Amino acid sequence: DKKITIAIDGFSSTGKSTVAKKLAKELGYVYVDTGAMYRAVTLFMMRKVFVSEGNFDEEAIIRHLPFISLSFEFNEKLGFGEMYLNDENVEKEIRYMEVSQQVSKVSAIPQVRKKLVEQQQEMGKEKGIVMDGRDIGTVVFPDAELKLFMTASTQTRAQRRYDELKERGDEVDFDEVLQNVKDRDYMDSTREDSPLIMADDAVEFDNSNMGLDEQFEKILKIAKDKI
Ligand code: C5P
Repeated sequence: DKKITIAIDGFSSTGKSTVAKKLAKELGYVYVDTGAMYRAVTLFMMRKVFVSEGNFDEEAIIRHLPFISLSFEFNEKLGFGEMYLNDENVEKEIRYMEVSQQVSKVSAIPQVRKKLVEQQQEMGKEKGIVMDGRDIGTVVFPDAELKLFMTASTQTRAQRRYDELKERGDEVDFDEVLQNVKDRDYMDSTREDSPLIMADDAVEFDNSNMGLDEQFEKILKIAKDKI
């Protein structure tokens, strides 16, 4: 078998990471969650207070990028790589609502994208990778052998995200989650640098009314045809 590159893009909470993780496991590929990288950069900048509810210091953010080192460390028990920011495990903290509310602003900065895209391309240069995000099939790996574009209705996605957060024990309000999903969709697809758009050669998957298993079987078949 030859190793291929699998790019999975789509709006927030479309179940990209669930499919990507399963696919990577099944194929023995590496899984990379690029959203976690943007979230980790955002968390770093929030701790420095360059980013907060009423503050966004783009210049300071750009100046501090060289002080950020990101890596994934495989967790045997979880079966995927956890996000490390300067050698600290931030896997949990980067999923907090506060980070979700700021991440799309930080991700719109071209210098931030340049740094992360370079690292992502480096991670994928041996192929045998499943990467999910917003610009993987368009910018990071435009030559990926398989590109998937996931969609689902806004309500479905907000509900999934809400259930996920609740299950983790977070105190969240459904309307707040819904608003965040809408805000990020809007910002991610209208930004100037690498907006979220479907690549011409991507396969679109609307999973609003599709079970996880059914969807996975379909995707696995498409992937195996390419290998
Ligand atoms: O995938 P996730 O929802 O965790 O991503 C968080 C945010 O990171 C997105 O809303 C988007 O602003 C940004 N992102 C991005 N490009 C990627 C992955 C994520 O801009 N490739």
